[in-house]
Amino acid sequence: MGSTKLISLLFCLLLVISTSAATQKKISREPCKTLVVYFHDILYNGQNAENATSAIVAAPAWGNETILAEPTHFGDIIVFDDPITLDNNLHSTPVGRAQGLYLYDGKHTFNTWFGFSFTFNSTGHKGSITLAGADPFLEKTRDIPVIGGTGDFFMARGIANFMTDAFEGEVYFRVRVNISLYECW
Ligand SMILES: *[C@@H]1O[C@H](CO)[C@@H](O)[C@H](O)[C@H]1NC(C)=O
Ligand SMILES: *[C@@H]1O[C@H](CO)[C@@H](O)[C@H](O)[C@H]1NC(C)=O
Ligand SMILES: *[C@@H]1O[C@H](CO)[C@@H](O)[C@H](O)[C@H]1NC(C)=O
Ligand SMILES: *[C@@H]1O[C@H](CO)[C@@H](O)[C@H](O)[C@H]1NC(C)=O
Repeated sequence: MGSTKLISLLFCLLLVISTSAATQKKISREPCKTLVVYFHDILYNGQNAENATSAIVAAPAWGNETILAEPTHFGDIIVFDDPITLDNNLHSTPVGRAQGLYLYDGKHTFNTWFGFSFTFNSTGHKGSITLAGADPFLEKTRDIPVIGGTGDFFMARGIANFMTDAFEGEVYFRVRVNISLYECW
């Protein structure tokens, strides 16, 4: 009888421990930091060298470095140095730069892969966030992994949700990025 009591006591204890662990897990699933930024990409097209913020640096044998390859831009690699703004206006004062590359890796459908950093240099934020991952941009929203950071974002990890906010032909696009960090130092 004593041992039955002991067992049920232990069972209750285990239940309490596991419930509190579950609660803790739930709490840690909320982001520790979120921020929303926009970046603006103006692709060089042979006529806009002054304003372009990105350029094709490699193209497949059937294409060239001035015009994106047909039909899905497969094989084009683009290097960019885009302004980051806090609203959707290209002419707002930038808070930093989005710098790195994206490449088209869909042979039969439009698909890109991004590897780049947001480098912040404003009174609000100093430091960088590095992102790497697939951006199937025909989808309304896409999640890109945040794989690290420096400065204000030291050791950061999380998810950057991309949403195409505007595009004009193949020359300009603007992406709204909702960054949710789940690991903050
Ligand atoms: C470059 O941007 C400026 C300012 O927005 C604009 O007046 C000009 O027409 C643009 N030039 C080209 C080649 O797109
Ligand atoms: C690049 O390719 C486009 C589309 O095929 C073509 O119109 C253009 O003349 C080419 N430009 C150069 C510099 O070869
Ligand atoms: C950051 O901003 C300051 C003040 O505007 C400027 O002096 C500095 O050169 C900038 N640094 C970088 C890396 O852009
Ligand atoms: C950004 O994403 C987070 C996590 O999904 C969400 O809680 C937050 O409301 C979003 N912020 C905006 C401004 O959309």
